[in-house]
Amino acid sequence: MNHTKAYSAASATSPLASSKIRRRDPTEHDVQIEILFCGVCHSDVHQVRNEWSSIMPTVYPIVPGHEIVGRVTKVGAAVAKYKPGDLAAVGCMVDSDGTCPHCQSGLEQFCPNMTLTFNSPDKHLGGVTYGGYSESIVVDERFVLRVPANLNPAGAAPLLCAGITTYSPMRRWGASKGKKVGVAGLGGLGHMGVKFAHALGAQVVVFTTSPGKKDDALRLGANEVVLSRDANAMQKHAGSFDFILDAVSAHHDINAYINLLRPDGTITIVGAPEKPLAVSAFSLLMGRRNLSGSLIGGIAETQEMLDFCGKHNITADVEVIPIQKVNEAYERLVKADVKYRFSIDMASLKSE
Ligand SMILES: NC(=O)c1ccc[n+]([C@@H]2O[C@H](COP(=O)([O-])OP(=O)(O)OC[C@H]3O[C@@H](n4cnc5c(N)ncnc54)[C@H](OP(=O)(O)O)[C@@H]3O)[C@@H](O)[C@H]2O)c1
Ligand SMILES: [Zn+2]
Ligand SMILES: [Zn+2]
Repeated sequence: MNHTKAYSAASATSPLASSKIRRRDPTEHDVQIEILFCGVCHSDVHQVRNEWSSIMPTVYPIVPGHEIVGRVTKVGAAVAKYKPGDLAAVGCMVDSDGTCPHCQSGLEQFCPNMTLTFNSPDKHLGGVTYGGYSESIVVDERFVLRVPANLNPAGAAPLLCAGITTYSPMRRWGASKGKKVGVAGLGGLGHMGVKFAHALGAQVVVFTTSPGKKDDALRLGANEVVLSRDANAMQKHAGSFDFILDAVSAHHDINAYINLLRPDGTITIVGAPEKPLAVSAFSLLMGRRNLSGSLIGGIAETQEMLDFCGKHNITADVEVIPIQKVNEAYERLVKADVKYRFSIDMASLKSE
């Protein structure tokens, strides 16, 4: 057992602050990783503030962080895929049973016995798991991923959640040449969605509430940008989209997007606002449209996404911050003031 520096929140209204947590000694199949960078996902904010209390109540203290890139420092005797010195990554999951039909088909995110990287029962130490806002982490090698060497580690960290969460539905619903794809909400997830849709050859339209993000959206790969609060501008696209990814973190009118789908078009919700969204039956039945959701992605697909990013030289656009600025970053996320992911330089934790 070792003690590790971390940042944790003591309650839904407390700021994140310096603390110490325990990590297990690596067992046979474990990889111990010194964390270099950890992305700040809006899910961290939702959970630190217990906004998902009806689905997964937060256990305090909470150490968030599930976009982890680091250096392997130690491996268990049975570990074959990693050795000390390797660059490695960990996303939203750290374990699953490996035997259920979902695990067998590479969809570990739906395993009834899946362990999330933070705020999930910890099978080894008791209590709950602690995430990446810390110096190190110990993870079963099945849940450790390989980072292509050409990718910048600070920008690669957000791929582990924002990347896979947008890549997976883009692939599933066939974003490709000849398809018109929309992305709603240009934050951490949204900006990755734009990069993937563009790299897959689709025509990409960004929907944003922030006029100041327009030029960036075009630079990231959008063909067109629509201010979502401008009803006339929205109406011009009515009935024309094959696929829309809804990555908005707060309450919004989803019907405004459903109405933009062509017949048989699909909208996939990845954003997870605190309160339910109201869906108009008419928006769906007019045009036999599909409403779906998507949760991160399986381990094999996460590796496929990382390799795709290596090949196409894709990383997140990050603002690197020291851990001491993380509370400020949360405030900015809530105001949609993010360009386009905060990535914490974990070396800053050493001075705590
Ligand atoms: N399904 C999954 O597996 C999964 C995985 C990770 C995260 N998530 C969830 O996905 C959501 C997005 O995460 P993120 O990290 O990308 O968040 P983020 O970086 O904070 O981006 C969210 C964006 O939503 C838009 N937005 C915010 N408030 C809004 C409002 N009141 N009305 C309309 N638009 C608003 C903003 O974009 P504009 O400025 O462009 O309007 C904002 O930048 C969160 O709810 C998160 O928990 C889900
Ligand atoms: Zn996330
Ligand atoms: Zn399983």
